[in-house]
Amino acid sequence: MKTFYITTPIYYPSGKFHIGSAYTTCFCDTIKRYKKMDGYDARMLTGTDEHGQKIEQAAQQAGKSPLEHVDYIAGIAQDLWKSLKITNDDFIRTTESRHKTAVQDIFERLIAQDDIYLGEYSGAYCVEDEAFFTPTQLLPGGLCPDCGRPTKIVKEETYFLRLSKYSERLLKYIEDNPDFITPETRKNEVVTFIKSGLNDLSVSRTSFAWGIPVKSNPKHVIYVWIDALCNYITALGYGSQDDHLFQKYWMNGNEVIHVTGKDILRFHAIFWPIILMALDLPIRFRLVAHGWYLMKDGKMSKSKGNVIYPEMLVERYGLDAFRYYIVKELSFGNDTVFTPEDFVARFNSDLVNDLGNLLSRSIAMVNKYFGGHIQNTKHNHECLKYEQELEITAQQVFTKYHEYMDDFNVAKALGEVSRLVARTNKLIDETTPWALAKNVDYLPALESVLYHLLEALRLATIMYSPVLINSHPLLFAALGVDDCDQTFQNGYFGAKKQYDVAHDAGHLFPRLDAETEVPYIKAMMNEQPKAIIKPAKPEITIDEFNKMEIKVGKVISCQTHPNAAKLLVLQINTGDRNRQIVSGIAEVVLPETVVGKTLMVITNLQPVKLRGILSEGMILCGERNGKPVLLEAPCDLTPGSIIR
Ligand code: ME8
Repeated sequence: MKTFYITTPIYYPSGKFHIGSAYTTCFCDTIKRYKKMDGYDARMLTGTDEHGQKIEQAAQQAGKSPLEHVDYIAGIAQDLWKSLKITNDDFIRTTESRHKTAVQDIFERLIAQDDIYLGEYSGAYCVEDEAFFTPTQLLPGGLCPDCGRPTKIVKEETYFLRLSKYSERLLKYIEDNPDFITPETRKNEVVTFIKSGLNDLSVSRTSFAWGIPVKSNPKHVIYVWIDALCNYITALGYGSQDDHLFQKYWMNGNEVIHVTGKDILRFHAIFWPIILMALDLPIRFRLVAHGWYLMKDGKMSKSKGNVIYPEMLVERYGLDAFRYYIVKELSFGNDTVFTPEDFVARFNSDLVNDLGNLLSRSIAMVNKYFGGHIQNTKHNHECLKYEQELEITAQQVFTKYHEYMDDFNVAKALGEVSRLVARTNKLIDETTPWALAKNVDYLPALESVLYHLLEALRLATIMYSPVLINSHPLLFAALGVDDCDQTFQNGYFGAKKQYDVAHDAGHLFPRLDAETEVPYIKAMMNEQPKAIIKPAKPEITIDEFNKMEIKVGKVISCQTHPNAAKLLVLQINTGDRNRQIVSGIAEVVLPETVVGKTLMVITNLQPVKLRGILSEGMILCGERNGKPVLLEAPCDLTPGSIIR
């Protein structure tokens, strides 16, 4: 089986992760899922880059030790990726000993072979970017050319990596491997930079302590970028007793892809290959450098109050709405401005109007005209030509989708699937099935048209599978497609000969009302965490706690309360029976998105009527910025399981 190894950058645990890091991570996960479907042995790595002065300072500000601080944020990161259903196979933290030991050994080896030497450095240093700059690189006023912040003059004994020794070899490598850096414009930037002359790179620091000490000279800590870049191989066990993953995915692997934003292109396209060359390892990887999500007023920043966090969007609109938007909207290689208007419009147009409507209309017609069962039927009606056009489009889309995905252009690949869905909707307009249904002679044609709708939907769902994580199984179930017809191998028209569809497809993607949702998202963007510390409640004994009966419950249905806009009325299966619960969560979730969730319910609370409707318990929620956040129980806990 061919191997495929894809990595995200390891993110700085300096604060909460916004939609930018979520983009790169969802992008890598989408590609990994695609490659798996395409028959690869695919592996994905993400993690956190936990050393350096910036982290030391962030910890100080949070009143924690650096390790306490990074432990806390790495936990948040792992929870976030779980909630986005990221299928990373490993999560590397640079404070782990498996990484630290290997990095120390790499550094010692490079000293021993004189690729790293001791010298002295004096120059302008940017703490934010952990980098020195030459006077010609600085912006006027001594500002950092990358982030625009003030730099400070630092003079220190430091180790240097001989970048200059490898620059010719690197240029030749880039020339001989035209695919090394995608997209092309980024490659040109890198080549120009190398040709302007590479200075040896300062790769150790003595001015702070939060880093990996140089083994033979521990007053130095290893420069955070050398430390960080090595994660891509230390996570595979490079330099350890058990390096079988390194052998499998790197040395003998078929494809290795590092995905990063354009901000860290130079580190990946210059420093990393030079480290690999110095270690006498094959470069092996390809670099995919994407653009940024920006806001209307430029970069996202907490001080501007324009940051948007993934959890908030997922909570209200569901995982698929978020994942679909995030990987589709950023046109590959460019920057894209996130706007609430686009978020709502993208969801409504692609998922509600095009895909969702096509599904519900098609299923309804198959039920109405053929009792839910149809097959591939021959006929000579003139609508044959439209069906043939659809078949050709499906074939082209399938081929293009693969080309784009193989080129890591997820946005365009999804654009192709939208094209197929649009063409399929057009078949309904062209053939007007309700008119065919009026004439018994046209029934074979009607059956064939409906069969074409379902086949096209099946193909679209296959292609959407790496992105629509929660809804693709529901789409397949509504169509009655079993596992073997969900594969790329069967991704051609006619592979499935007949359909037995669900009785009712329901509404997978409820329409968003722009008038309500755009202001809602705007308000999310301005939400700043409130520093209100509530007084602690009085202590209780364990016996008092044990008086509560808390059970896992699965939401069967959910509606808005007829008399209170802030309340939802949920029917919840708590194992013993279905109970009705009224809850004040209408502000933060839409009723449709709660159905099917596994929640935690207090089942022995005295029943009360809330605005005229009986409530027989309470669901547990967290609180963020004064608003409730649904707490979900792991979905493998069955309704009725006791929570203690
Ligand atoms: O640079 N739009 O970590 P980092 C799109 N630790 N992507 C964005 C983004 C945005 N607005 N903001 C961030 C570091 N990203 C180093 C990496 S790797 C050996 C060390 C994504 O937390 C994008 O992938 O600053 C960018 O390159 C990365 O987050 C930077 O993450």
